Amino acid sequence: MNVQDKIVVITGGAGGIGRVASSIFADKGARVIILDYNREAGEKAEAEIKATGARVQFIAVDISDEASVKEAFETIGETYGRVDALYNNASVFLGGKDSSIENVASDVWHRVLAINLDGLYYCSKYAVPLMKEHGGAIINTASSAGVVGIPGCAAYTATKGATVSLTKGMAVDLGKYNIRVNCIAPAAIMTEMVKESNLNDPEFDNEFFLHQITPLRRWGKPEDVANVACFLASDEGAYLNGTVISADGGITINGNVNKEKY
Ligand SMILES: NC(=O)c1ccc[n+]([C@@H]2O[C@H](COP(=O)([O-])OP(=O)(O)OC[C@H]3O[C@@H](n4cnc5c(N)ncnc54)[C@H](O)[C@@H]3O)[C@@H](O)[C@H]2O)c1
Repeated sequence: MNVQDKIVVITGGAGGIGRVASSIFADKGARVIILDYNREAGEKAEAEIKATGARVQFIAVDISDEASVKEAFETIGETYGRVDALYNNASVFLGGKDSSIENVASDVWHRVLAINLDGLYYCSKYAVPLMKEHGGAIINTASSAGVVGIPGCAAYTATKGATVSLTKGMAVDLGKYNIRVNCIAPAAIMTEMVKESNLNDPEFDNEFFLHQITPLRRWGKPEDVANVACFLASDEGAYLNGTVISADGGITINGNVNKEKY
């Protein structure tokens, strides 16, 4: 997977899957720019990656705030002159707050859309002009919730379904600039988000989930997704455009996908 010297922007690069992706890209010689609203985690990630001799810069950004995203990409443009890959990874789940459509509160609905969907829009909107001249890759992040119906998370589902369809629209629009747009749909990756969406739920049955829902019978690791992102950004992924890759151990082809026990 050749990403040597590529300018790679990773949203949510300070935690979970994004943090591991930041290290993988940096280890392979990319110049990584982490955009995250968690300043403490971002500065820690920057220091840890720099300590390995790799190239990384952290910029504190809330991707739901257009002005903050615009400013970050102005800085990136001035510093590096281009972007080769944008990994739209940051999202929130808001476990315990998101709910079925009749129960999800309006402020929760709008907060989830603002981060997961508006954030993707702002980052893509300001990255594309920095890619157009020479081509590039955008990797969007959906979820099993964008591929099949998952109960109790209407707002999150709305954003992830939109991410799948928007990926295809963006791929068609941007192909003429040799900007490839692809999407990863993860599930069951062991991060803080999975604790929020599954493990912290007192009704969640870990054994049932692993043995009846997950064909590989293990939780995914952040690198199981981050490596796919690296491939999609690399020279070897050059003819992939508009694809949605499920990185979920087979959960969404299982048929028995409902996490509720009946
Ligand atoms: N973990 C899973 O099982 C799973 C399943 C399906 C989809 N996903 C998707 O994978 C992606 C990464 O998930 P994760 O499990 O690593 O999540 P995580 O919660 O562990 O990490 C998310 C990172 O994004 C950052 N972030 C959140 N909101 C932000 C904002 N407004 N601005 C800037 N940074 C922000 C956080 O600070 C954190 O560093 C998300 O898009 C998520 O929806 C994950």
